[in-house]
Amino acid sequence: MGFKVAVVGATGNVGREMLAILDERSFPADEVVAVASRRSQGSQVSFGDRVLTAKALDTYDFSDVDICLMSAGGEVSKEWSPKIAAQGAIVIDNSSAWRYDQDVPLVVPEVNAEAVRGFTKKNIIANPNCSTAQLVVALKPLHDHAVIKRVVVATYQSVSGAGKDGMDELDRQTKALYSLQDVQQKKFTKRIAFNVIPHIDVFMEDGYTKEEWKMMVETKKILDPKIKLTATCVRVPVFIGHSEAVNVEFEKPITADEARAILRRAPGIVVIDKQEPGGYITPHEAAGEDPTYISRVREDSTVDNGISFWCVSDNLRKGAALNAIQIAEALVNRGLIEAKKKAA
Ligand SMILES: NC(=O)c1ccc[n+]([C@@H]2O[C@H](COP(=O)([O-])OP(=O)(O)OC[C@H]3O[C@@H](n4cnc5c(N)ncnc54)[C@H](OP(=O)(O)O)[C@@H]3O)[C@@H](O)[C@H]2O)c1
Repeated sequence: MGFKVAVVGATGNVGREMLAILDERSFPADEVVAVASRRSQGSQVSFGDRVLTAKALDTYDFSDVDICLMSAGGEVSKEWSPKIAAQGAIVIDNSSAWRYDQDVPLVVPEVNAEAVRGFTKKNIIANPNCSTAQLVVALKPLHDHAVIKRVVVATYQSVSGAGKDGMDELDRQTKALYSLQDVQQKKFTKRIAFNVIPHIDVFMEDGYTKEEWKMMVETKKILDPKIKLTATCVRVPVFIGHSEAVNVEFEKPITADEARAILRRAPGIVVIDKQEPGGYITPHEAAGEDPTYISRVREDSTVDNGISFWCVSDNLRKGAALNAIQIAEALVNRGLIEAKKKAA
């Protein structure tokens, strides 16, 4: 007997990817239900070669659901995750609503899979921010080898990180510019077509943005509270795939060759690093793929024990949907969840 899985936010960018990945990985589900807002009640979404009809969240009965993959934004999660969890489903949430709650584990399975055991306090597990997920996958094996002191990262984040409205805005603005029409701006604070915007999420008192703060706080929670991290997060006119220029200072010596060899052996990583034109990965190639790609590994001689590299991944997959399903697999593989129907 398999599990009953509900995907809340199934009509969104991440929700659709979740349905695709559940099917691709043959997740042991007997039943998968698509849930969204009342707006899309009755609309159809693909699940492998089947079609699911979206149900409305506020009237859906979760009492026989085992796993709820939640990707409907922070406000919806704050209200609904505790209600769904109280009905006995384990909620794996993609928003930032629960990530910083000390009773909720924040998990990237390649880094801290064992932390899933901590779900019992609230029946909720949090997925990190998309830019944190790919970063910690790359940092973990390097940290194990040479102990990270400080990370300086600049991100180049695609518009799909801002949901389907973000993708629509880049599409609309690009078409408007080519047809000499007025460019309308709604989702982003400046024109995103043929531009870059150094501002993601709200500004904090210290001048950083919340997206930058999230990378710092989440890296500490998932990997090591002693790691110092400073980030600059930038939105770029790319549909799918986040890129990061990463500079790391270690306590112990590490060469570029050693870093490359360590990363090659690490789970979830593919190293493509030929020092020739095109011998690196760009978001265009990473879109639709599972790995975190590493390129441009080199020593930084301006600090002791410094390494710089380029890190690219599909933000809708490793940054969201894939990571959530890997968390569900970690629960299943450890025998931490039993199907309600089987238990009854
Ligand atoms: N995109 C990324 O790279 C990424 C990465 C990590 C985490 N996340 C997080 O994942 C979540 C979803 O992101 P997304 O990119 O998929 O956004 P999206 O494309 O805008 O989709 C949002 C989804 O939430 C549903 N929804 C909105 N309000 C709802 C309500 N009141 N009740 C029920 N469902 C509701 C929408 O349903 P309707 O179609 O009915 O409106 C839609 O299915 C967000 O919390 C986001 O921060 C995204």
